[in-house]
Amino acid sequence: EETNLVYARSLIRTIQDYPQPGVAFRDITPLLGDGKALRAVAHGLLDQASTSFDVVAGIEARGFIFAGAVAAIADTGMLPIRKAGKLPVPAHQISYDKEYGPDTLEVSPELKPGMRVLLIDDILATGGTLKAGADLIELAGAQVAGVGVVMELEGLGGRRVMPQTQALFTM
Ligand code: PRP
Ligand code: MG
Repeated sequence: EETNLVYARSLIRTIQDYPQPGVAFRDITPLLGDGKALRAVAHGLLDQASTSFDVVAGIEARGFIFAGAVAAIADTGMLPIRKAGKLPVPAHQISYDKEYGPDTLEVSPELKPGMRVLLIDDILATGGTLKAGADLIELAGAQVAGVGVVMELEGLGGRRVMPQTQALFTM
């Protein structure tokens, strides 16, 4: 299991100067394409969740992949936290600042007050996205039972914004 996580980490591809000069992009596509790696990451995200939860929420788009995989093995449902305008029945929304201006996240009424939510995304960078996701869950009257990511990018301040985050890999 631990060996498989080391293997999974090795499949994260780094692309220098993408999408712009000076940025080292962490590309999870090779990891997703490998069954053993994807399964190890899904189990790793589930195993590191230290509390019980009712549903696994994933943030569009890359968070969907891992939240769905975790929910399937945890035997819970999956809740999509979507970018604005994608849900036919939006129940709550929250706006937050990203690098190139404001963005908005929405959830459907399947997120009920009192639900305990395991919040999943691929990467913790500045933490803005996960903070917005966590705030949205609380806005709905639900609880953030845990926060998990595949990787944390050090030096971008995300840990200060979302100190409760459990990361499988640090890069
Ligand atoms: C990326 C990544 C995380 C977020 C991390 O999402 O998937 O969700 O940025 O950055 P932060 O910690 O600084 O908020 P993005 O919205 O760029 O693209 P995606 O739709 O491919 O997930
Ligand atoms: Mg994302």
